[in-house]
Amino acid sequence: MAKLNDNYLKLKAGYLFPEIGRRVQAFTDANPEVAGDIIRCGIGDVTEPLPAAARDAMKAAVDELGERSSFRGYGPEQGYDFLRTAIAEGDYRGRGIEVADDEIFVSDGSKCDTGNILDIFGPGNTIAITDPVYPVYVDTNVMAGNTGDADASGAYEGIHYMPCTAENGFVPAVPNEKVDLIYLCYPNNPTGATATREQLTNWVKYAQANGSIILYDAAYQAFVGDDSIPRSIYEIDGARECAIEFRSFSKNGGFTGVRCAFTVVPKTLLAETSTGEKMPLHPLWSRRQSTKFNSVSYPVQRAAEALYSEAGKAQISALIKHYMGNAKLLREACTALGLNVFGGENAPYVWAACPGSIDSWGMFDKMLAEAKVVITPGAGFGAAGEGFFRISAFNSRENVEEVCRRLETVVGSF
Ligand code: MLT
Repeated sequence: MAKLNDNYLKLKAGYLFPEIGRRVQAFTDANPEVAGDIIRCGIGDVTEPLPAAARDAMKAAVDELGERSSFRGYGPEQGYDFLRTAIAEGDYRGRGIEVADDEIFVSDGSKCDTGNILDIFGPGNTIAITDPVYPVYVDTNVMAGNTGDADASGAYEGIHYMPCTAENGFVPAVPNEKVDLIYLCYPNNPTGATATREQLTNWVKYAQANGSIILYDAAYQAFVGDDSIPRSIYEIDGARECAIEFRSFSKNGGFTGVRCAFTVVPKTLLAETSTGEKMPLHPLWSRRQSTKFNSVSYPVQRAAEALYSEAGKAQISALIKHYMGNAKLLREACTALGLNVFGGENAPYVWAACPGSIDSWGMFDKMLAEAKVVITPGAGFGAAGEGFFRISAFNSRENVEEVCRRLETVVGSF
């Protein structure tokens, strides 16, 4: 009989967000009369319309595909040059950061890329992951066979967990031992924390000293309003020799449904073969994408390119301003209710300590049942997330104002 991948059997629960969806569905099935009142601040999914610049570019691209003379079939697997150049100029070189056009690999999402990147790393790497964490990093390592089984707390054997707590500002110190692959995400999902230049410099120095590679998820960089906070790992000297960066148009351009992102693999980034030879990873990722991926559709890449136009940039700024206005309201409401609150200042997530002694799934259930508000339980992001809950600021202003009012009834009951 054909063999399945046993590693999947090690996965503890369903993927977090479908699991939340399942629980919300069970609740609405049991209480259909309140289904319309539910406000979803769980998954960080955008709610505001797609920027006009992106829509116009997409429509024009569709029209091009409707003419024989301008029709296009398969595009380059790594992405069209027009978009790679727009990204390299707009996000990096225009800000004084060295990144070449052909170091940009266009994709359909950072979720996919942070999982797929494991294809180009060999077995036996030690993996360091923050806790709490975006669950994709953990689950994809389990699927790839890079871990043992999970213990009763849900921690997998073989992963080096780095607790992120209020005490360390949700940015872990570098480990005392050597690890090979390090996942960092700043501005952070789920805690909304940011890492300073000094903290990222320590990580880059650690990676250089230990031959490690940092997998840097910067999907939320556009929400940084404080200019002293790095938006890219490549703002740190030496990062081109030790880091891969993942970015997405999902949250800044409202592309969660449209799908477009990119990964930067510098040509100067080396890793070791099984025989100890140092080789660049760039050709491996390029080869991986050529074989397993056909990039993103032409209209979507034109839409992403349009986000770098003057109109596109202004429309992104308006979206960021809207969501960060929501984050401010949520932060203030939680603070006024006496909760210990983090994030929400340079990130679209507010991370709050649960009131009283309720645990984070208990808080999820209570918020759903009593306030009809979906939040994300901190424990869903890892053991160190227990005792916290996350509120996403991706919503309409009206809904966020209502969430603030409803929070008061639940938190006030403790
Ligand atoms: C989240 O809510 O953590 C994110 O929306 C998930 C994602 O971007 O895949």
